[in-house]
Parts: sequence; C-alpha cells; structure tokens
Amino acid sequence: AHTNGKGGVSNEAPSLKKIAELIKSGKAKNIIFMAGAGISTAAGIPDFRSPGTGLYDNLAKYNLPQPESIFEIRYFKKNPEPFFELARELYPSKFLPTLTHYFIKLLHQKNVLLRCFTQNIDTLEQLAGLPEEAVVEAHGSFSKAKCLDCDKLADPKWMKETVFSGVVPRCLICEGIVKPCITFFGENLPQKFFRHMKDFDSCDLLIVAGTSLQVQPFALLINSVTFETPRLLINREKVACYDTGGGFDFDGSFSPIRRDVFYGGSCDDGILELAELLGWKEELLKLHKEGHELLKEEFAKDLAGEKVDDDVDALAAEFGKKVGISEEEKSTSNEFNDNKDDAKVGISEEEKSNKVNENKDDAKVGISEEEKANKVNENEDDAKIDKIEKGEALEDKHKEETK
Ligand code: OAD
Ligand code: ZN
Repeated sequence: AHTNGKGGVSNEAPSLKKIAELIKSGKAKNIIFMAGAGISTAAGIPDFRSPGTGLYDNLAKYNLPQPESIFEIRYFKKNPEPFFELARELYPSKFLPTLTHYFIKLLHQKNVLLRCFTQNIDTLEQLAGLPEEAVVEAHGSFSKAKCLDCDKLADPKWMKETVFSGVVPRCLICEGIVKPCITFFGENLPQKFFRHMKDFDSCDLLIVAGTSLQVQPFALLINSVTFETPRLLINREKVACYDTGGGFDFDGSFSPIRRDVFYGGSCDDGILELAELLGWKEELLKLHKEGHELLKEEFAKDLAGEKVDDDVDALAAEFGKKVGISEEEKSTSNEFNDNKDDAKVGISEEEKSNKVNENKDDAKVGISEEEKANKVNENEDDAKIDKIEKGEALEDKHKEETK
C-alpha cells in the first residue's frame, strides 16, 4: 500500500476484504457486474483469446483472413459458411452455469445488483435464474435470428434445425441470409445496451470478471462509473491498465484515488473468496447445487422430449427440403398442412398468410378462418416489434460499432 502524495480521498490500497465490507455495510447497493467469456470457461465453453484454448487459436480449418473474420459482418455477408459451421458448436446447449453466475444471481436476490452486463452469448446468466431485466446481453444472443435483407424474424426452432442440417439459412421471403442476433464486428449493439448505459451513473461498485476488455464499446464501460467508484477485476490476467484515462490502476501509479482491486486467478476461486468474506459462502454453494440439480432435471426432460420429437422432426425436415425445391409442391401437398408442422419446416407466419392469400382454394391448405385471423394478428405484432426496433436504431445518438 502506497500513498500517492496527492492527498486523495483514500490512499489506502483497497482489497477484496474492503470490497466485501462495502457490500456488507450496505454502502454498495447498486452493483454492476461486467462479464466476459472467462466466467463460462469453467462450464466447458472456451473463451476467445486465451492462447491455445481460446476460440481464435482454433479456427485454422476455416482458412480465414484473420480469426476475428468469423464474426465480421462484411466477411459474413460474402462467406457465411464458416460462421454457420462454427455456430453448431456455439449454439447454447446443455451447459450449466458456474459458481460465478450463481454469485451474480445471489447479488440480485440480495437486492444489490443494479445490472449484469455480459458479453457472453451462452445465456448462462438466465439459466442461473437472473430475470431478463437484470441482464444486458451486450453482444446479443442466439435466441433470435433475422434476415439480413428484410429484417424478418425467423422461427427459432426452424433456425436451429437449419443450422444443424448444415445449410446456410435463407429467408423464406427474400432469400437473404438469416443471421442469429449475436452482434458481429461492424454491427450495432442491441438497443438495450444503450438504454442501460445510464446505469453506470448510479453504480457504487463495479465488478468485472473473465474478460480481456479488448472489445469496444463494452470495454469503455469500466470508465463510465464515477472516478471514486470502487472497481474489482477478477481475472487470470490484469487487463485494461492503460494510464490514458479510465484504465485500471491497481497499484496507484497514476490516479489520485485508490479504488481498483485485482484478484488474479480463476473467476470461481475469486468469487468463492469474496463470498466467504461476505459470509455468503454456504448460501452460494447451496444455490449452485440446487440450481444444477434443477437444470439437470430439465435437460433430461428435454432430451426425452427430443427423442419423441425426432421422428416427426426428421419427416418435417425432409418435407422442408422438398418445399425449398418446389413452391407448387408446398401449396398442394396435404401431408403437413397444420400449424404445428408449418412451424417445424420453418415457414414463417408472414409467408403462411401470404400463401393463404395466394391460394384461392383455402380449404386445400387446411387453414380455417379463425386460424387465418390469428395469423394476421401475430403478423401485426411482429411488424410492430420490428418498427419499434428500427425506430430506436435510427434515433439512437450513441450509435457505435463493436471494435
Ligand atoms: P476473451 O477471450 O477476450 O477474454 C477472456 C479473459 O478471461 C482473458 O483475459 C482470460 O485470461 C480470462 N479467463 C479465461 N478463463 C478464465 C477463468 N476461468 N477465470 C478467470 N479468468 C479467465 O473474452 P471476452 O473478453 O469475453 O465478441 O471477449 C469479448 C468479445 O470478443 C466476445 O464477446 C466476442 C469476442 O470477439 C463477439 O463475438 C461479438
Ligand atoms: Zn428476407
């Protein structure tokens, strides 16, 4: 612990213990947690930049100009195949949240979490039980997919099946490439990210974990808190220690106020140590254990369900391929003309109602008047959502690009 000679408010070097005291005493009650891939590696998901194990070191087979190209929108538009090949590995599947995820959930339960900003697309925050409003998925997620040309949202189930069948998903309306709504380099971040940037004004403790802080604008968020707000980094390595303003200053070499703490090690170890200092260790371990038990049950149920569905899906997928070849076959076939199977073969609601309009003999495609009315309503809702999203994007003053 050194003093910096500038007579700052607090020259005492802060520590993990100090951070715990801030939370215990109720001084920190608007905590922001910023997360990166390192909080999920313990779940078995590789990060991006760790030498050897990171994703970017393992893309040789794709012959990319550079590893990041796989997530570059310009590259993707010309060569979507490498991304979709990788997407089969990246699609969120049966991964279990880590201790760190449950700690974020615990902060929420204790009413001291203002927000969790995550760069991860693995949805483990939600699986750990954090409600949607508590999380900002700064780089989007796989839960939605959109046509790059006409913006039409795709049916998630169709999307997943198409990706896993090994073909590039194409819009059923305009043939544009359908891309999961994860943020690529060169694309705007989701609106929710910009809406919640103001959270940082009221943040009284920032915890950053498992990120190299190399991607903008996310990385800049660490200096969106006030210059006195304590910041804790839990990471294998020190990151963002630039002295040009805003960077972490763990040893008090350039800032007037000592407020940055570094825990060097694994996220889960750091979190466990913090939980122990807080007196929350047992509670955290219980949350983790019970959470995993519950999820394992759910995954097992899903697996059982998938087996039953498999035959129907295989048939539907085959039908889907046929549909792709011949429009005529689609409207005259009476094998799969109820709603459920339409969804399976990836016919969007909009296309369905177009089809109904095109088709003079509605009875032929087996869609009742009532169903038609429902479809029109659903379409209108979709259109409304699209409009809202577009409107905000156009008006957004913060419009920034990743990296
Ligand atoms: P990175 O792979 O860049 O950084 C992960 C950081 O976590 C590194 O500093 C690792 O040393 C550290 N780390 C890994 N495992 C850890 C563990 N178990 N405990 C503690 N530290 C650990 O991942 P991000 O910073 O999340 O964007 O990457 C940011 C963005 O770059 C991603 O969201 C992705 C990528 O390109 C898009 O694809 C848009
Ligand atoms: Zn389209």
